[in-house]
Amino acid sequence: MTVTAVLGTQWGDEGKGKVVDFLAEDADFVARFNGGNNAGHTVINKYGMFKIHLVPSGIFSPRAKALIGGGVVVDPAVLLKEIATLRAASVEVDGKLFVSPRSHLIMPYHKILDGLYEEAKGAGATGTTRRGIGPVFADKVSYNGIRWSDFAREEVIRTRLGMQIELKNKIITALGGEALDFDEVFETYRGYYEQLKPFIRELFPIVQGGLKDGKNFLLEQAMGTFLDTDWGTYPFVTASTTLPSAATAGLGIPPRSITDIVGVAKAYTTRVGGGPLPTEIKDTSHPVYEQFAETAATTGRSRRIGWLDLEVTRTAVAISGITELCLSKLDVLSGLDEIQVCVGYKLNGKEVSYADVDAYGLDEVEPVLKTLKGWDEDITGARYFDDLPKRAKEYIRFVEEQAGAPVKWVGVGPEREATIRI
Ligand code: GDP
Ligand code: IMO
Ligand code: MG
Repeated sequence: MTVTAVLGTQWGDEGKGKVVDFLAEDADFVARFNGGNNAGHTVINKYGMFKIHLVPSGIFSPRAKALIGGGVVVDPAVLLKEIATLRAASVEVDGKLFVSPRSHLIMPYHKILDGLYEEAKGAGATGTTRRGIGPVFADKVSYNGIRWSDFAREEVIRTRLGMQIELKNKIITALGGEALDFDEVFETYRGYYEQLKPFIRELFPIVQGGLKDGKNFLLEQAMGTFLDTDWGTYPFVTASTTLPSAATAGLGIPPRSITDIVGVAKAYTTRVGGGPLPTEIKDTSHPVYEQFAETAATTGRSRRIGWLDLEVTRTAVAISGITELCLSKLDVLSGLDEIQVCVGYKLNGKEVSYADVDAYGLDEVEPVLKTLKGWDEDITGARYFDDLPKRAKEYIRFVEEQAGAPVKWVGVGPEREATIRI
């Protein structure tokens, strides 16, 4: 039995979707345990190209059951659309995909409030995806959330939703937004519930049964380590725990059952939205912006770009107990004469670590950069470590030495098979 968690070690978009897709071949269960459709995970395989927001990226594996845990917040319209897209591509979902009745629903007022809060913050805005993530998690922990299980009893959902709409309308109108109509929201969501009912199932017996039978689980984190509410660059974070411990509450997996923790590190760094990025290349006319061509999978925004930050990788390895790394997008660096990597930070001339500073301090640190030699060769066809040029091998070795975890896989292209296993 293996229970493997796949985590992003940066600020999201490390290539988790691709890694989950190729690791899912050996999985009996693939699961999402945190976040919502703020995530956008790209998968390219024989079924086509998908930007997946809610369904586990391992759904393509013929034998795996796909679970959306109670720790995930669900926008039903997005889930229905995703199911339709997968069906249209002949990917099996019926009898294979299950959604926890404990998962909270993103309601129209969450999306409205997300936007209104962002507008109100002006220059200090988080730069959220505006998918309602902060407000839905706030409702969850303040006992105001709506869960799928509430729909089982009409009087429960009517009363609870009625109260929420009354409350939220007061806030929305005070902030200059337009009030919502209870009947409209209720009927729309009841319709979603009817359509999604075949997928809603308590996951406890499925997960516990799988663990007892020694099955292989693959747990797919959404967002990245440094968007974690506690250990990320607060307040420029997301609203859910992104550390592997989130799989415990978000799926019902006992912490000691987790056997492997795979950290995905992009060969450079990107970030979408506000917040510090110590290795950022601030000049957006720098050629890397064109070469790396980074566009957000969920919002279509341009991603900010920086060099690989090994202080960040090291911190992620330590905090999540990462057992092996996947260095993704190494192919994208081909053609650079020199590649910079950050090996530490200085603040006012003194060495500091990630944990020594808050988000505002992190914005002021000076990255200690080391210059490594690049390579010219196109490496997208490489399938073995020995196919790689000497400088690319040196880059990989440097990363693992600095990060404190071995690099077991290297990404050399977006497709499932463009992967080197070391
Ligand atoms: P996720 O959110 O962590 O799943 O990552 P995204 O899908 O948002 O962003 C990663 C992007 O890099 C996507 O466009 C992937 O198709 C692409 N990608 C992933 N791994 C590789 C790789 O090794 N090489 C290249 N060239 N692209 C990759
Ligand atoms: P995947 O799973 C990159 C960022 C947003 C914003 C902050 C808060 O594809 O790696 P939110 O909408 O969550 O309230 O926004 O978090 N963010 C992501 N950035 N990849 C993601 O997911 C992200 N999910 C949230 O850009 O800065
Ligand atoms: Mg993404």
